[in-house]
Amino acid sequence: APRKFFVGGNWKMNGDKKSLGELIHTLNGAKLSADTEVVCGAPSIYLDFARQKLDAKIGVAAQNCYKVPKGAFTGEISPAMIKDIGAAWVILGHSERRHVFGESDEREAGITEKVVFEQTKAIADNVKDWSKVVLAYEPVWAIGTGKTATPQQAQEVHEKLRGWLKSHVSDAVAQSTRIIYGGSVTGSNCKELASQHDVDGFLVGGASLKPEFVDIINAKH
Ligand code: G3H
Repeated sequence: APRKFFVGGNWKMNGDKKSLGELIHTLNGAKLSADTEVVCGAPSIYLDFARQKLDAKIGVAAQNCYKVPKGAFTGEISPAMIKDIGAAWVILGHSERRHVFGESDEREAGITEKVVFEQTKAIADNVKDWSKVVLAYEPVWAIGTGKTATPQQAQEVHEKLRGWLKSHVSDAVAQSTRIIYGGSVTGSNCKELASQHDVDGFLVGGASLKPEFVDIINAKH
């Protein structure tokens, strides 16, 4: 089966009940392509609110979680808690959660492959069911900077990542896993990026808080 286009909105630490309520109202009322899977990443305090207000066809993601069901981990939330409020997704390993590579320009440093493969290996070592996983590639220099990777740059890395999955996991997993791009995706650059063979969708930060998120969801159409 072809990979279903996937667009995630990562609201990061933004919004309040009023503005997120308005955004949700816009998304619920918009014409969204049925060929795109849409998921919104809400701050944990608004997860339940987002899940209750968003149409059922739009998924909800937490922006991080700790790996155990419960316990003495002040400030953390668990996968069980996320499921309990009806959200089905979580963003894990976002670069803003990582401390090591945060400030450097991977591509110019020429270590893109090394970084991406090492990070993917750490994930692959722990994944049992790949049908539940969407991989997001986000060049750190493109996050929140207004500098987007060119469609060719994104395609190049996505293709290598799929190749890595093929040789280290399986051909079936390589063919079926969505690899999405993040980093200054907007309503105006999304169509060209979406036309690339190995770009299966987006993880959108800033633009996911604006009505143009609808155009990104519909980038293929
Ligand atoms: O998770 C989303 C990304 O970090 C991209 O953020 O679209 O604001 O550049 P951005």
